[in-house]
Amino acid sequence: MVRPQHGGEVWEHSPHLIDFSCNLNPFGPPEETIKIILENMNYIINYPDDQCTHLKSTLSDHLDVPLRNIIVGCGSTELIKAFAEAFVKQNDHVIVCSPTYDEYAFYCQFMGGIVDRVPLREDKEFFLEAESLFELVDGSTRAVFLCNPNNPTSRFESKNKILEVVEECENKSVMVFIDEAFIDFLREGKSNSCVSEVQNHDNLFVSRSLTKIFSIPGVRVGYGVGGEEIIKYMDKARLSWNVGILEQALACGLIGDCHSYLERTVRFVETEKRRMYEKLSCIGGYQPVRPDANFIFVKIKELGVNSTDFKNIMLTHGFLIRDCSSFGEAFSNYIRIAIKKSEQNAGLLEKLKAVSEEILSSGRKKFEAPEKSISKC
Ligand SMILES: Cc1ncc(COP(=O)(O)O)c(C=O)c1O
Repeated sequence: MVRPQHGGEVWEHSPHLIDFSCNLNPFGPPEETIKIILENMNYIINYPDDQCTHLKSTLSDHLDVPLRNIIVGCGSTELIKAFAEAFVKQNDHVIVCSPTYDEYAFYCQFMGGIVDRVPLREDKEFFLEAESLFELVDGSTRAVFLCNPNNPTSRFESKNKILEVVEECENKSVMVFIDEAFIDFLREGKSNSCVSEVQNHDNLFVSRSLTKIFSIPGVRVGYGVGGEEIIKYMDKARLSWNVGILEQALACGLIGDCHSYLERTVRFVETEKRRMYEKLSCIGGYQPVRPDANFIFVKIKELGVNSTDFKNIMLTHGFLIRDCSSFGEAFSNYIRIAIKKSEQNAGLLEKLKAVSEEILSSGRKKFEAPEKSISKC
C-alpha cells in the first residue's frame, strides 16, 4: 500500500510557481479570515472543545440537520478515515469508482478491506453507470463510496441518481459514503446535495469540506452528516481534540456568513470553466472533458507524452498541474487543472498552447521530456 498522491505539493517547488494542481476557491480566503484567526489567537493556550459544540450548532442551523446527525473532522479526510475505521473490517468489500479520489480505497485497504472498482467510462462522459455498480454489490459489500462532483473527472451526478444508489444499497444493507467536497462550487449543488437525505436513509453518510470552497486547506476542518448510529460509531473513531481552536472559530465565522462571497464564486466558476473548456478544446493536443466543477480533466494522449513528463515540462515553465497517472494506469495520459483567476487561466492557456506546438512540431519520437527539475522554475 502506498499513501495516496495529491496535488498542491508547492512546498517542493519554487515560491513563484502557479499552482493549478489544487482545486481551491480562486478568490482566496474570505476577507474576514485573518481577523477571525487573530481574534482567537489568545485562546490557543487551551485545549479545543472536543465536542465542537458551537460549530456543530452553527452547522445544525445552517444545514437544518439535528446536532446528533453531525460530526466534525480534521478536514473531511479524517472523516474518510474514521468511516473506514468504524465500519470496514478484514475482507469486507467496498466499491469505489475508477478514477476517483484515492483516499477511500486507501483507508479501506488499510483496515483490511477489499476494493472493487466500477469504471467511469470516457465514452459515457465519465458519468456513473448505476447498473454496473449494482452488479458489483453482493452479500460481502460493506460500503459504496461516491464522490460528487467526482475528482478528477469533474462530473456531477443528479441527486435522483445518487438516491437511486442509496436506496438500492439500503435494501441490501450496504452503507453509502457521498463525498461532496466540491459541491459548493456548483449553482445546482445545494438542490442536489444529499445532506437533507440523511434522516431518510440510515445507511447514508455525506462528507463536506470547508477547505476547498473557502480556500483554507492549511486550516484543517471539514464535517459530515449521517444517520445517528453512523455518527455515534464514527465519533468513537475520530481523534480526541481533532479540530483545533482556530479551526473551530474560523469555521463558525465563515459558515452562513459568506453569502455574497459564495455567490460571487459560483458565478465566476460557472463562466470561467466554460471559457477555459472552450479555449482548451481549440488547442491541438488537448481533449478536455466538459467540466461540471471548478477543475478540468484533460486528455493529452495526442501530444504523445505521458502526464508525468508533461507535468515536469510545465514545471519548467512555472506551472504546477496535476499528473493523473496516480489514479491508475488508464489515466497516465490525463492531467487535471484548476479554475483560477482569469489572468492566471489566460497565462496557463498561453503556455499550454506554446508547449503543445513545441511538442507537436518537434515530432513525438524526437521529443524528450526534461528530467524533473525544480530549480528551473
Ligand atoms: C474529493 C475530495 N474529498 C476530500 C478531500 C479532502 O479535503 P479536506 O480534508 O481538506 O476537507 C479532497 C482533497 O483534495 C478531495 O479532493
